[in-house]
Order: sequence, then structure tokens, then C-alpha cells
Amino acid sequence: MFLLLFFFSWSITTALAQFVVQAQKPEFRPDLTWDLGIGPGLNDTANLVFNTVHSLLLGWPNRRYRNGHTVVPGVIPTGTFLYHGRGDPVVPTHPEWTALDFELSTLYCGLFTPDGEGCWHLTLVAERPLNILYFDGYSGLKLPGSGTLDSQDVLAWGEVMPDRYHDEPQRIVDLCKWGQNFGLDGFVRLHTSYEVMLCDFSSGLKVKSMLHINIPYLPPSPNISSHLSSAYQNTIAPGMKLGVPLDSFGMGELLASKRIDEYPGETRIQLHLHRLVSFYDTELVPSLISTRFGKHRLQHRILGISHSDIQAVRHRVQIELSTSTKSAHDIAWSSLFRAIVQQYAARLELIQHDLNSTDRSIGSLSTTLRATFLQLRGLLQPYDLVSTRAAVDGTKDKLSWVTQVYEMCATAYPTFSSASGPANFTTSENLMLTALKATNREICRVITSMWADGISHQMENPLASSHNTRMLFRSIHKRWKEDIDSLMLWLDWSVWLKCNPSCSLNVRFDNIDTSISV
Ligand SMILES: *[C@@H]1O[C@H](CO)[C@@H](O)[C@H](O)[C@H]1NC(C)=O
Ligand SMILES: *[C@@H]1O[C@H](CO)[C@@H](O)[C@H](O)[C@H]1NC(C)=O
Ligand SMILES: *[C@@H]1O[C@H](CO)[C@@H](O)[C@H](O)[C@H]1NC(C)=O
Ligand SMILES: *[C@@H]1O[C@H](CO)[C@@H](O)[C@H](O)[C@H]1NC(C)=O
Repeated sequence: MFLLLFFFSWSITTALAQFVVQAQKPEFRPDLTWDLGIGPGLNDTANLVFNTVHSLLLGWPNRRYRNGHTVVPGVIPTGTFLYHGRGDPVVPTHPEWTALDFELSTLYCGLFTPDGEGCWHLTLVAERPLNILYFDGYSGLKLPGSGTLDSQDVLAWGEVMPDRYHDEPQRIVDLCKWGQNFGLDGFVRLHTSYEVMLCDFSSGLKVKSMLHINIPYLPPSPNISSHLSSAYQNTIAPGMKLGVPLDSFGMGELLASKRIDEYPGETRIQLHLHRLVSFYDTELVPSLISTRFGKHRLQHRILGISHSDIQAVRHRVQIELSTSTKSAHDIAWSSLFRAIVQQYAARLELIQHDLNSTDRSIGSLSTTLRATFLQLRGLLQPYDLVSTRAAVDGTKDKLSWVTQVYEMCATAYPTFSSASGPANFTTSENLMLTALKATNREICRVITSMWADGISHQMENPLASSHNTRMLFRSIHKRWKEDIDSLMLWLDWSVWLKCNPSCSLNVRFDNIDTSISV
């Protein structure tokens, strides 16, 4: 028992010290020994790649971490509508912005009207699958000093150019010019909802209608369109009201943005995840490891990337855009990632909620720890072998039974037959599989440690566990809370950041200042 206790307090509560020990070891790899004391390395990006893949085309996570680090080729299927608002009845003959939701295009429609006498709303329909490249993050946000446009700069201009954050007209022209080499029809970015920078309105699209529509608010100023088409953050004085009340569309803008917030997000864009390229790929982009070091994810940028890494990324993207759009083995990557979040998100949250209890009386501690233990046991149920448990009491080597459960849990990701095995995976698929394995493994490492701690303190048996002292309960509680908090901090899933309780359906905005100011 002493040995076991020593092992747990040594291995789990001094996780930070372990990072130091690990510094001498290679990056976290699934084939290391099943040592519960070894967590992911400090520079490991498995959790970041995991979150990136799981968050593609979701509004909320990409607004939360707005500096995108990933580009993914994909298509907009035949039959999809794209909308474009403008002040005159002209179908653009040069690259322009379109929206997937008319809430966004009608807003722009009104802003661009020259006379306040209505505006022109163009509806296009895709006549073939349109080839697009998607930029993750809040990629349609143009703010000085933010990193939302970094990945676009790298592809359009071959370097990050922070001073050109407002140079939208040239950015779209240069992206389209570059994309022409690969048959790209457009680029997808997150605005209030998703927008498509469309390179050629006459290629693969048909005009369904061009309608003269009313504007539900007074146009802000005759000069607004020229302001907007350059950089309105630059030219409008701070605090000046644009005069478009948010409620003039029945909060349409907000609703359009809300409905893509959660999984599955924007389904009208179909991404080819097996062709994804990420700046979080440390083999492809080693120069950003030191730039990111010690920084919160909010501060992560592509700015600071080395010249050779830029070349490598551009080369990789070009390869991905030139290769087949078909996945070699039709693996549903998105749902593999989703399955992990679905399986663990609510359970981990509940465990954290229980352990957040601040009542330190022995009765309350005992109840909390037992409830937590039952959750842990539920999570590990499929690996709780009869033969393993028999070893708990009888063997000299008490750690072997823990290790076995850890390994079974951690390897419970899909294994693929040799024809579709990792040797045949694309580079992108290997990146995703590594992130999937490492994330699953870290969850298993922590929950297995906690669960085994519970077993060895008789948590399964309320009567036996009632002999534990308050001191012991307190130390287990402290350990478990640290474990679950650091695991959830590392995972950092956006599904956990929400309003609790959430707003009811009929919350009104009467008391809110509903005009946009910049
Ligand atoms: C429009 O802008 C021009 C110069 O940019 C300015 O001289 C003019 O007063 C503005 N008009 C209105 C109505 O604000
Ligand atoms: C992580 O990266 C920093 C900055 O490049 C480096 O100093 C450190 O040694 C790295 N740590 C590990 C564990 O690889
Ligand atoms: C538990 O408490 C932490 C602060 O210590 C907080 O960040 C977290 O949201 C809480 N978790 C739950 C599920 O209530
Ligand atoms: C890759 O796939 C092909 C068939 O598609 C198969 O013949 C080959 O053995 C596979 N390679 C590996 C290493 O699994």
C-alpha cells in the first residue's frame, strides 16, 4: 500500500516536475512505456491539433481562438446558394465577397446603397462543386494587431504582413491569382457567419436572381460604402455609431452566427480533412515552437515563422491542392474526433463539478469522492477486466493491473487494416491520427490514475471506505481536483465554455444598446 500511495502522489501531484524530467526525453509518442507519470511534453501540439480539427467550421471555437493555424481544401456542393449585396444591379466581373447566409449579404447590401432607395441583392447557385480553401479561426475579422489574417498572408503574399490587415481588395485579388494555379473557385472565412471570397462569378455559378430590395434602416452616410470598401476600422472615428440597429433584422445577424456555433457547424462547406495543413504541425513548422513557448493560445500567431517554414507550408498546400480530392480510405475523421469529445466532455465536466465542492466535512468529502469514483468507473468500464481486478489484491506487482487498464483505454482508438494502415495515410491523416491518439491517451492516463487511486482506497465499497480518515479523504480530494483541472486545462475544449444557465428562448434585447459602434 505504501508503495502504491507513494507512486500516486509522486506521479500525479508532481506533474510539473515530470515535465522537467521529460525535457530530456523525445516528444510524447504512443510507443513509450505505459508510465502513468509521463504526460504530454510542453511543446507537444496534440491538444491544439485535436481542438483545431474538432472545431473546423464551428463558429464559437473559432471566434474564441481567432488566430487560425489551419487551412483545409474542400468543396461547396452543387445547388448551394451564395448571396451578394450591392448598391447597383451589376454581377461582379472581378473577385468579390459572398455570404452563405442572406442575413450577412443583406446587411452589406444596405450599407453599400448609394441613395438609400433600396439596394441590390444577388442570389447565385452553384452548378458544380466549387473548389475552395478554408481558413480556420476568425478569418474574416480585420483588426489591427490580431493574427486572424496571418495564414492568408502566407499564401497570398509569402509572408505575414501585419500592416496590411485592411488591404482586403488586394488580398482577395492575390489569393485568387494564386488559387488559379490549382483550380480554386474561392476562399472560405468566418465573418458573422461564413463568407466565400469568390474569384469568378461566372464560373460554376448561375445567377438565380438580382432583386431590388428595401433597406430596413436608414443608410448610415452616403460615404459609408467607400469607408467599408477600404478599412472602416481605420476611417471611422472611435465611438462613432454606424447607425445600423442590431434589431433591425430581428437580430438576424446574431441568429445566423449562433446557428453555426456548435457541432456540426457549417455543413454547406465540405472539407477534405485528409488534405489539411496545420501551422501547429511541429514537423512542418518547427520555427513556431519557440515563438509559442510559454504563451497562452490566445496569443499564438503565425507571425515570427521562419522563411524556410513558409516555403515548406506553401509547398505542402500546393501538393494538397494538386492531389486527388478523394480520400484513400473514406475515414470519417471529423466523427472520430467528435466521438472522443462526445464520450468524455460531459463526464469530465461532471467530475470537475463534483470535485469543485468546497465542503470539507468528512461526510461531504466521502460523498463527493464516491460520486467521482463511480463516474471514473463508468468511463473505464469496458477495460475493467475480471482478471485484472483479481490481481489487485493478490499480486506483488500492484502497478501492473493499473498499467493494463491504462493501455487498453489509451489504445481504444480505431485501428486500421493494413491496406488503409498508417503507412498508406496521407501526411495530414498521420497528423490527425497522432493528435487523436495522444489526446485519448492523456485522458486515459489521468482517469486511470484517479480510478486506481479510488480502488486502492476502497472507494467501491462504501462501508470499507468509511474507515478512511478525513485527512486521507482531503488528500485524495486535493489530488483528484488537481488532476481533473490540469487535464481539462490541457484539453481546453470550447464546449465547456458556455453560459450556465443559458439564455431562454425569449430573452429580449430591449434593454441593450443595439447599435454597432466601432
Ligand atoms: C464624404 O466624404 C468627403 C471626403 O471624404 C467629404 O468631403 C464629405 O463631406 C462627405 N460627405 C458626407 C455627407 O459626410
Ligand atoms: C520547448 O521549446 C522551448 C523553446 O524552443 C525549448 O527551450 C524547450 O527546451 C522545449 N521543451 C521541450 C520539453 O521540448
Ligand atoms: C470548477 O471550478 C473552476 C475554478 O476553480 C472553474 O473554472 C470551473 O468552471 C468549475 N467547473 C465546473 C464544472 O463547475
Ligand atoms: C497500401 O495500400 C495498397 C492498396 O491500396 C496495398 O497494396 C499496400 O499493401 C498498402 N501498404 C501498406 C504498407 O499497408
